[in-house]
Amino acid sequence: MQFEPARRLAGHFAVPGDKSISHRALLLAAMATGSSEFTGLSAGQDVAATAACLGELGIDLHCEDAATGRWRVHGVPTQAWRSPVRPLDCGNSGTTMRLLCGVLAGAPGVRSVLAGDVSVSRRPMRRVADPLNLLGARVATTDTGTAPLAIDGQRLAGGTARLAVASAQVKSALLLAGLNAAGPVAVHEPAPTRDHTERMLRAMGAKLRQLPDGAVIEPGTLAPLPRAAIPGDPSAAAFAIALGVLHDDADIAVRSVCLNPRRTGWLAVLARMGARVQVAADADGAMIANEPSGALRGRSSALRATDVEPAEVPDCVDELPILALCAAAATGVSTLRGLSELRVKESDRLAATARLLQTLGVEVTAGPDWLRIGGVGSARNWRRVGAYDPGLDHRMALCAAVAGLCGDGAAVANWRTTDSSWPGFAEALRAVTMQ
Ligand code: S3P
Repeated sequence: MQFEPARRLAGHFAVPGDKSISHRALLLAAMATGSSEFTGLSAGQDVAATAACLGELGIDLHCEDAATGRWRVHGVPTQAWRSPVRPLDCGNSGTTMRLLCGVLAGAPGVRSVLAGDVSVSRRPMRRVADPLNLLGARVATTDTGTAPLAIDGQRLAGGTARLAVASAQVKSALLLAGLNAAGPVAVHEPAPTRDHTERMLRAMGAKLRQLPDGAVIEPGTLAPLPRAAIPGDPSAAAFAIALGVLHDDADIAVRSVCLNPRRTGWLAVLARMGARVQVAADADGAMIANEPSGALRGRSSALRATDVEPAEVPDCVDELPILALCAAAATGVSTLRGLSELRVKESDRLAATARLLQTLGVEVTAGPDWLRIGGVGSARNWRRVGAYDPGLDHRMALCAAVAGLCGDGAAVANWRTTDSSWPGFAEALRAVTMQ
């Protein structure tokens, strides 16, 4: 896909429903007893993979209206789920694989294999298999700790899991397995991560207690969510707002974005950089499972360098590449630290980000878990991106598109990979592009 420098960008940028919440909505509704309905579900391939896997497990679920993302799910307790006849295809989606691994590890009598594309098949899965197995699960990875995962569902013993990595996916897998365990499951995390699972479990009647460093789930059943609207995805909104901030003639607004504080760390970083971003919280959060939401507005800004510290990383883990791109247009040198998790995302995002910035003509040094970026003062000073291949990493493809639109153009290979999270990006972009 070819992106030419935009002359002016203005108006409302439509973003998809939140991907993290959409996965959880389908999974938790499938585990509940009764019918749940959602609007605003993400239309991305990742969430479609979760839906398809649940279908193979015998769950009756379908999209009732693609335009509004309305889905209905007829949930039954996991005891009534069937063993799939073939490996479940998680596609490009690590969230599908890790969350479903937790659910299926704790589903007695259900035997399954979870597989995915070459990107997912390179990602670390012991982080989820090991703590589940310590509670009595039978989850086997390959010798190198990757997918396919072979899962022999069991009623897990209760117990305590102390996680080695800060991962919402792993925390969620354990909490979902804990719903069917013989006793309470306590999960302690090394740093706080997104809490969508906890919020939704509580909204569906689960007995969940917050701990200073995690949560405890009591075994029990879930009530369905009769009607719930999923807020927009802040990780998608970050690209729209970055377009507004980086472009020298832009005023971009995004409506109804999830403003869960564990997802908005990137707004704090942009604020430190002097970005002209406004946040207006919605008054009446008629949101799914108590998620706060609001509107964002991003306008052309003169950015200054900033440092990102390791403690900030979990709250902006998916936005680090686009924040690095912002640093590349700032005045001064920015250092981003504590980035080891970027090495094991859909691609090695630390290396992929450094490569993109180098292509733009930006001075960047990459360490094992850090990036030092010498900003060039404005996106207008970036070089044209002759060809950028994001591999199977949707977020890197979107970063390259933003770079081309605000700088001097970009040719992005493998554009279809953006379907993982955002099949409608090109249409949404057209709506804000002034001819
Ligand atoms: C996600 C958690 C994060 C994030 C991913 C989605 C989730 O991953 O990077 O895009 O929905 O729980 P980790 O849990 O591996 O940090």
